[in-house]
Amino acid sequence: MKNRREFLKIAGLAGAGMVVGQGQAQPADPFPYVHKQQFNMHGYAAPKLDRVRMGFIGVGSRGSGTVRRMANIEGVEIKAVCDLIPGNVKKVIEDIKGAHNPDAYSGSEDIWKEVCDRDDIDLIYIATPWDLHAPISIRSMERDKHVYTELPLATTVEECWQVVETSERTRKHCFMGSGSCHDGMSAVALNMVRQGFFGDLIHGEGNYVHDRVSDPSRWERDEDNWYSYRPWRLKENVGRNGNLYPQHGLGPVAQMMDLNYGDKMDYLVSVSSADFTMGPTLKEVAKKDSYFEPFVGLPFRGNINTTIIRTHLGRTIMLQHDISTPRPGSRFQLISGTKGIFDARARQAALSEEWLSDEEFKSLLEKFKPQISKTFEEKVKAVGGISGSRSYERVTAMDWRLIDCLRNGLPLEMDVYDGALWSVVTPLSEWSVAHQGGTVRVPDFTAGAWKTNKRGMDISLEQGGTTNLVRPKG
Ligand SMILES: NC(=O)c1ccc[n+]([C@@H]2O[C@H](COP(=O)([O-])OP(=O)(O)OC[C@H]3O[C@@H](n4cnc5c(N)ncnc54)[C@H](O)[C@@H]3O)[C@@H](O)[C@H]2O)c1
Repeated sequence: MKNRREFLKIAGLAGAGMVVGQGQAQPADPFPYVHKQQFNMHGYAAPKLDRVRMGFIGVGSRGSGTVRRMANIEGVEIKAVCDLIPGNVKKVIEDIKGAHNPDAYSGSEDIWKEVCDRDDIDLIYIATPWDLHAPISIRSMERDKHVYTELPLATTVEECWQVVETSERTRKHCFMGSGSCHDGMSAVALNMVRQGFFGDLIHGEGNYVHDRVSDPSRWERDEDNWYSYRPWRLKENVGRNGNLYPQHGLGPVAQMMDLNYGDKMDYLVSVSSADFTMGPTLKEVAKKDSYFEPFVGLPFRGNINTTIIRTHLGRTIMLQHDISTPRPGSRFQLISGTKGIFDARARQAALSEEWLSDEEFKSLLEKFKPQISKTFEEKVKAVGGISGSRSYERVTAMDWRLIDCLRNGLPLEMDVYDGALWSVVTPLSEWSVAHQGGTVRVPDFTAGAWKTNKRGMDISLEQGGTTNLVRPKG
C-alpha cells in the first residue's frame, strides 16, 4: 500500500512537471534580426593559395607577436604592417627585415582602409581595439580578402550578423583566432569526447580569468611595458557589465558540443557581482598618476560574471569572466558527460566518484593526443624548436593550421558562424545582467544549417598538414 502511495506521489509530481513544461515562458528576444542564409560558409573551401600574402592591422602587444609568429610559417608573405603608432610599425618591420619587406602604414585613424584596398593581399590580420574588428573585417572581405581577427569578431548582435552576411555574400573566410581550441589540453579533451570517452555530453565550463588589476606594476605606464590597461581596454570595463571576453573559455566547449554542427545554443542567463576592486584601485592609482583621475568614480563592471547557456539538446555551459580579483588564470575548464569528466585546470579526469591517478591521467593525455597536435610537434621539431621570447611570439598550432588550410584549399577549423556565436555571448550577457539575470534567446547564425552541417575542426588531420615551419633569418 505504501509503495502504491509513493508511486502516486511521484506520478503526480511528474504530471505537475509536464504542466510547468508546457507553460514555460519563452526567452526574451531583444535583438530580432531577419536573415536568410545566402551561402553556407561552414565547410567552405576557398581556392588554394600557394603563398598567403598578409597585411597586419594593429601591431601593439598581441599584433606585434603575431607578425613574428606568422613569419615562422612556410608560404606566408608579409606585405603590409599598419598601426596608429608609427613606432609600433617600425619596430615590427625591423624585426622581420630581410625575410619580409612589408610596406608601412601609420599616422591616421583610418589608414587601415588603404591596407584593405590593396590588390596583392590574401589575408588581413586584425589586432586593434575591439570596436574596429567588425568594420575592418567587413571592408577586408568586401575587398576580396580573407580575415583572421583577434577576439572578438564583433561587439554587438547587429555587427555579428553583418560580418556573417558579408562572409556569405563574398565567400571570404572570417576566422576568429581563439587559440585555446588548439591548446594541448583542449585538443586532447576534444579527441576524448569524439571517441565517446565521456559518453553523451551534459555540461561544460570555460573561463576567462586573468588578474590584470592586483599587481601594482600593471598600472605603471611606460611606452613599452604598459601591457595591462591601455586606455581602450580600461574604457571597455566602464559602463558595460557582462562577460566581455567569453571566446577563450567557450571555444573548446562549443567544439566538444558540436555547436553549429549538431547542436546550437538556445538561451542564456547572466549575473554579475558588484565591483569590489576596480573602483577602489582607480582611486589609489589616480593619487600617484593623474592620468587615471577621469576614471575615479565611474561605474566599473562587476568583478565576476557568471553566464549559463542552455543548448538545444539540453546541455549546459557555464562561463566565468574575471579580470580583477586575485585568482589563478583559467580558460577551458571542464567537460562532463554520462560516463565521466575531464577537468583541465585540475589536470584530472574521472569515470566515477574518484579521480584517476596522476599516472593514469598522464597516460590518457598521451593516448588521446590528436593527430593535429602530433603533426604540429613534428613540424616544430624539424626546425629545432619554437623561437620567440614572449609567448605571443611563439608560433601555435592554430596559426600553422590556419595557413595550412588556406594553402591546401581546406575549410577552416573555425568559421564565421563560430566567431559570431562565441562573440554574441557578450552583448547577450550584458542584456541579461541588466535584466537581473533575464533569459535571452541566442541567435542561430547558421539559419538552421546546424542540423545538417558536418562536424568542424579536423583534429585527425584527414587532409592537409603539409605546411612546414621556417626559422626567420637573423
Ligand atoms: N588571442 C589572444 O590570446 C589575445 C591575447 C591578447 C590580446 N588579444 C586581442 O588582440 C587585440 C589587441 O590587443 P592588444 O593587447 O594587442 O592591445 P594593444 O593596445 O597593445 O594593441 C592595439 C594596437 O592597435 C592600434 N590601433 C588602435 N587604433 C588603430 C587604428 N585606427 N588603426 C590602426 N591601428 C590602431 C594601437 O595603436 C595598438 O598598437 C584585442 O582584440 C585583444 O582582445 C588576443
